[in-house]
Order: sequence, then C-alpha cells, then structure tokens
Amino acid sequence: MKIGIDKIGFYAPHLYLDMTKLAETRNVDPDKFTIGIGQEKMAVPPMTQDAVTLAANAALKILDEADKQAIDFVIFGTETGVDSSKSAAVYVHELLGLNPYARAIEVKQACYGATAGIQMAKGHIAMNPESKVLVLGSDIARYGLSTPGEATQGAGAAALLISADPHIMALEDESVYFTADVMDFWRPVYSDEAFADGKLSNEQYIAFFSEIWSRYKEKSGLDLKDFEAITFHLPYTKMGKKALKPVLEEADANIQERLKTNYQVSTGYNRIIGNVYTGSLYLSLLSLLEQQNDLEAGSRIGMFSYGSGAVGEFFTGILQDGFREHLQVKQHHDMFTSRKEVTVPEYEAIFEEKLPTDGSTIKLDINNDPAAICLGGISDDKRQYVNKLQ
Ligand code: HMG
Repeated sequence: MKIGIDKIGFYAPHLYLDMTKLAETRNVDPDKFTIGIGQEKMAVPPMTQDAVTLAANAALKILDEADKQAIDFVIFGTETGVDSSKSAAVYVHELLGLNPYARAIEVKQACYGATAGIQMAKGHIAMNPESKVLVLGSDIARYGLSTPGEATQGAGAAALLISADPHIMALEDESVYFTADVMDFWRPVYSDEAFADGKLSNEQYIAFFSEIWSRYKEKSGLDLKDFEAITFHLPYTKMGKKALKPVLEEADANIQERLKTNYQVSTGYNRIIGNVYTGSLYLSLLSLLEQQNDLEAGSRIGMFSYGSGAVGEFFTGILQDGFREHLQVKQHHDMFTSRKEVTVPEYEAIFEEKLPTDGSTIKLDINNDPAAICLGGISDDKRQYVNKLQ
C-alpha cells in the first residue's frame, strides 16, 4: 500500500520585513543577509497569530468536508506551543470542526517535530488504511533584536494530509535517523527567545547530514543519481547548500547541476519567509513542487530534517501521477504577494509586544489581521480563538 502526502499547504502571517532595510538599520552590509545568509524577507507575526492560529489557517486552506470526517489523528509539531499541558492539536481540531473520534497530540524535538509526526502518521495509516492524519508544523522563530540570530527569524505553518493512495507523494520505507545530545540551540522554559551557538549549530547540521547520508547510501543502495532533488530543513537558505556541497562531489557534472538547480528552486519560498522551524523542510518541498515546472511523476525527492539538540532524519518520496493538480500554486502566490511590508521600527514594536503573563485579560483587535483564524485575546487565563468563517 502506498502511504504519503495527499495534500500540502502553508500559511504565513500577512506582515513582512525587508532584510536589506534590517541590515541597513543594524549597520550590516545588506549582502551579508541577502547573499551570505540568503534571506530577502522575513515573516513578522502580529499578536493575533500564534502557533495554533498559523497551523489552523494552513490546514483550513487544504481540507474539504470529506477530509475533516476522515481525519482521526492530528499531530502538531511545534517548539512554540502555547500551553505546557494542553496540546495545540486540540485547539486546531476544534477550530477546524474535525471528526470528534480522533487523537490529537503535540510533538516536540525542535525543528524535527513535524517529521516525527509524518512517520507516526505513516505507521497509523499502515494499521488503519481508511484513516487520514493531519500533520502540522507551526512555529514562530525568535532570537531577539540585534542578536546574530535575528536575520534568521520568521513565522509560519505547514499542514500535510497523510493518507493511503496519496495524490502528491508516496513516502518510501527506507529512512535513516540519528540522535546525539548537542547544545547547539535550545530554549529554556523561562525564555521567549531561543539561545543558539551559531557556529556549533552549523557544524552539527552539516555533520548530521554527512553521517546520515553515508548510512542511507549503505542501507538503500541508492546514490545521488537516483534523486531528482534533495530538499532540506532551511534555518536560512544558505544552510542546505553548505551541507549538500561536499556530498555533491560524489556525482558527475550533470547530476551535480540538476541537484544544484533544484536546490535553488527549493529555497524560493523560504527566502521570503525566514525560518519556520518545524514547517521549514515542508516549505522548501512546497517551493520545489510549486516552482519547478520540469518535475515529473515517478521522480524521487530526498528530504533532510534537522532539529537542534539534536535529531536528524533523511527520508524519501516518489512524486505521483497528476501531483501538480493537487497543489495550490495560485493560492500560495497570492498569499505571499499580498503581504504588507512593515518598517524596522514597526517590526521592533511588534516584536516587543507581549501577551500578559499575570492572569489579566486582554482583547486583541483582529480586524487588521486578514487571517480567517486569529487569537482574539486572553481571559480567565484561557486563549480565546476566533474563526471568522464560523
Ligand atoms: P553570524 O555569525 O552573524 O554570521 O551568524 P557569519 O559571520 O557566520 O556570516 C554568515 C555568512 O555570511 C558567512 O558565509 C559569511 O561569509 C557571509 P559562510 O562562510 O557561512 O558561507 N558574509 C557575507 N556574504 C556576502 N557579503 C558580505 C558578507 N558578510 C558575511 N558582506 C548564524 C550566522 C546563522 C550563525 C546566525 O544567524 C545564527 O546564530 N542563527 C541561528 C542558528 C541557526 O540558524 N543555525 C543553523 C543550523 S541549526 C538548525 O538548523 C536548527 C534550527 O532551525 C533550530 C531548531 O532545530 O529548532 C536553528
């Protein structure tokens, strides 16, 4: 039985910051951000969007009524969850009106959470072929104003519907995963902002890819020529390139060219959104599928997932006949192009806004947020979500 990605969608908040303008304000050469790091724009989340609303908005765009009835498992990968006990998946389950006979859980391992969710979904469908699983990867990446990580912030959510006989991509069984205790990036429970050892994190990402790729080749008997493209978790768009570069030497010039071209295409959406942690690999996959018109059914796509701390996994999928008809190219294009630019002072003011942590009530103005699903405020220590379509 084939199991894989039946539908895939992405949601970004409606505000963005131009990285050249951020560089100028920080007295940095803009080329460092746009070329050295490889980011042009950064998604800026208003107070009315959090990990729950971003994910619910991403899923809303891809699910029809039949999906909502068939989904019996919601797996929410995030490292910016809104509650230490209740899973973000339960909120999304309610906001979307999903079948009540469902499981709903949250999964955490930095940027790797959604990949863990996909693998769990695959096992669930193998046992229950009629069911569909909604996997979400939703995050807000925050390092702090004027920190080295600032240029690698972002916000957004990917939503994937995993099913039997998928329309877009069948996931193959061979995969290699690897865990090692590394303090390259972490966020203690008392902090809103992540801590990163930037140099170590880059080194570990590259080392994990190299280790996992070697073992994958041994286990599968495949090599670079068997891949149309390899997509990566992209904390910033230069990162995957750094990991791929040493490995490319294994292939002849034509294959190198194909993988380099497709890598470039796979960074397109990430370049204008920034790091979205758990959703980042899937934003890159979406970028490739929606923007590379030469891709053919039957092609094998590699996916490298990396979550600091650290867990990495390399897995693969085969594009299915007619996969293009199940993508939402225009919807994503319209969402990205209708975003509103904010100035650096506006971004800084939004960054500094905080929800109360002392139990007081707050009502947020959701009229300026075009999203269908918003955070309307907090009362009695409970987040009040609004689905404007209901
Ligand atoms: P930095 O120290 O400010 O930057 O921080 P740099 O000095 O290393 O420069 C970056 C690149 O720009 C270099 O290129 C420079 O040469 C180049 P490279 O040598 O690396 O190829 N450069 C220029 N290029 C053109 N014109 C110029 C110019 N100046 C410099 N004028 C860093 C960079 C990414 C470390 C920082 O932003 C950071 O700490 N970010 C957060 C951590 C991170 O993203 N790590 C990535 C791997 S870990 C990961 O992916 C997991 C993660 O997503 C979290 C999770 O799993 O949950 C982060």
